[in-house]
Amino acid sequence: MNYNPLTSELLETLRQIVGERNVVLDEAMRETYSHDETSKDEYAHMSDVVIFPQSTDAVARVVRLANEAHIPITPRGAGSGLSGGAIPVYGGIVLSLEKMNKVREIDYDNLTMTVEAGIVTNEINSLIKEKGLFYAGYPMSLETCTLGGNIAENAGGGKAIKYGVTSRYILGLEFVTPRGEIVWLGGKLAKDVTGYDLVHLIIGSEGTLGIVTAAIIRLIALPTAKTDLLALFKTPEAAISCVPKILAKDLTPTSIEFMDRQSFAASCTYLNEGLSYAECGAMLLIEMDGRDASTVEREAEAVGDLCTELGAIEVYVADNRTTQDRLWAIRRNIAEALKVYSPVQSLEDIVVPPASIPLVLPELDRISRKFGIAIPCYGHAGDGNLHATLVKDPSMSFEAWQKVEPEALLALYDATSHLGGKISGEHGIGLKRKSYMYRFMSPVEQMLIKSIKQAWDPNLIMNPGKMLDFETQE
Ligand code: LAC
Ligand code: ZN
Repeated sequence: MNYNPLTSELLETLRQIVGERNVVLDEAMRETYSHDETSKDEYAHMSDVVIFPQSTDAVARVVRLANEAHIPITPRGAGSGLSGGAIPVYGGIVLSLEKMNKVREIDYDNLTMTVEAGIVTNEINSLIKEKGLFYAGYPMSLETCTLGGNIAENAGGGKAIKYGVTSRYILGLEFVTPRGEIVWLGGKLAKDVTGYDLVHLIIGSEGTLGIVTAAIIRLIALPTAKTDLLALFKTPEAAISCVPKILAKDLTPTSIEFMDRQSFAASCTYLNEGLSYAECGAMLLIEMDGRDASTVEREAEAVGDLCTELGAIEVYVADNRTTQDRLWAIRRNIAEALKVYSPVQSLEDIVVPPASIPLVLPELDRISRKFGIAIPCYGHAGDGNLHATLVKDPSMSFEAWQKVEPEALLALYDATSHLGGKISGEHGIGLKRKSYMYRFMSPVEQMLIKSIKQAWDPNLIMNPGKMLDFETQE
């Protein structure tokens, strides 16, 4: 695909639209915006400019300009993504939504909130907590990630078994099309079959169909009671085989998170956490929440008993905030801790049907042996969504790793596919997994996606280089 260069005239127009100080050419800044949290350096690409529009109107004017001039635009939230989705592969404009972070409305009668895309996800809950309300989207990076990024990736995270993923809470979108039109889709409605469900087509489309500038989100009653259990098992198999059994009971856990030894040990070291785990080969972190403390307590006890029956060597109960935060810190810091252990790695987020969860570990073991690399594994076991992480042992040469990593990754994706799963449950395809789509997505499905893209973005300016090779289609 041939895009045009960003001329000084175009830059001048950008300055007029978003304001002088919101057009950044500085090399160090462009470097910061050349990558996301994906560990591979070779994914990074420099843009020509990073801009920070402050209104939907400005976003639309920039998009119109870029569409007419054939300049690529890469929309960006906080850059906490893990598939290279916000990397400006073809240069051009990085359009950051960070400065569009206002709350436009809290509607207590309809239990909705209208917020701009750049709001930090965590902030939403701190604004409504006092009123007993709750936004249930819960990506692991919630302290830094933004709602717009969550919408682009249809983020999942640690509470999806009970609450579902981001898409369940998005009722409406303010959206800028790749032609620069502004449109409101959906609304404050519990039901809506008025035409195609474009809101849910856009959610998870990784910024390839246009730019979400604001959203109407659904609020629910704040769960006031919460109990966490940390169940320690001798082996990863013992821990993971509990998961479908817990799911089959008439209990509603909010989270069932799995951590194998290498994962939790790395995190404990990273955090200086003194938890004793000598005999333990894997842990489950299980959360129960609700509005009735005695029900939550009873159900937590039932889950704890079940874990013990199924071989847990220890079950710690955390019923106060401090201990809960401590346990979740271990879980939430694994990705970071494994990066410290080995920055050269491939963090995956395969997803399989619930009944296949226990079958993933033997596959990881097989692949790990075959290719001679460690694959620590943790994640949202209750959703069948596991972060198998291929890591380069510090003693392995980079050349050896480069040879073995793609083969091991392919073996992992193959195994996932055989188990009825898919290659990404929450991080997305982006740049990182694009080359595998041709193998794991049927030609008909690819054609359907490409035809939508073509119709919405005929000049292919919107987040090019992601998900599928739209730019090289015949
Ligand atoms: C997590 C990120 C890696 O679950 O998705 O920690
Ligand atoms: Zn995750």
